[in-house]
Amino acid sequence: MTADTEAPIGIFDSGFGGLTVARAVIDQLPHEDIVYLGDTARAPYGEQPIASVREYALECLDHLVDQGVKILVIACNSASAAVLRDARERYAVPVVEVILPAARRAVAATRSGRVGVICTEATANSQAYDDAFAAAPQVTLHTVACPRFVGFVEAGITGGPELLTCARTYLDPLWAAGIDTLILGCTHYPLLTGVISYVLGDSVSLVSSAEECAKDAYATLTRLGLAHDRPRHPSHRFLTTGSPQSFEGIGRRLMGDLVVDVEQFV
Ligand code: DGL
Repeated sequence: MTADTEAPIGIFDSGFGGLTVARAVIDQLPHEDIVYLGDTARAPYGEQPIASVREYALECLDHLVDQGVKILVIACNSASAAVLRDARERYAVPVVEVILPAARRAVAATRSGRVGVICTEATANSQAYDDAFAAAPQVTLHTVACPRFVGFVEAGITGGPELLTCARTYLDPLWAAGIDTLILGCTHYPLLTGVISYVLGDSVSLVSSAEECAKDAYATLTRLGLAHDRPRHPSHRFLTTGSPQSFEGIGRRLMGDLVVDVEQFV
């Protein structure tokens, strides 16, 4: 094993939502050390101008590189949208993110060529998903920003009448547009697959950007010979720019025992 193989995977998100990506990475790469940085002090990113998101994201990614990570995983869709064009040129380590793998999966999955993406306002305004589908002219993309979904998830609400009404408002236009594939283009939305599937029905396939990103992390590490191939007891560190207590509280509610001993990052 080289020294690089021993280094941790760096996962970055605006806050807690990227834990869906961390969960998928840990499931698919169980022997790897993880350093997760959530910029909760400046979240939510999804409501901010893309230039601010870009500045915050690059600052956090720089910190993860300083920690000696072997790969950067940008778990946040809003941050991926903001730095998609330049993160790969800026860093010597490989960078994987959520948008391109999800777009690739959707292109492979759709039969009708009508694909939906739901995301934050920052991601929708950036048009990063439109760019990601540029090489697939057979696909018509319908984008809907769903800003209230993040608040529901962080409040621990993943069902009930208020969420259902909200979901219908966001998703009915996508159903009317005849989509057969929907990208969950925000870290928090994999926790809402129950209500989303309920509204859209079984004929619409859901693509989780978290799962696709984790698969890309697996493929990238394996291709580069950087994956740990033997069972070992890995270390999982969680850093936050905000309150460790609040991160741990929400993190444990969303992900259970995965999130312990959260550290303050300044
Ligand atoms: N992580 C963000 C995303 O995936 C959602 C939360 C936020 O707005 O900061 O777009």
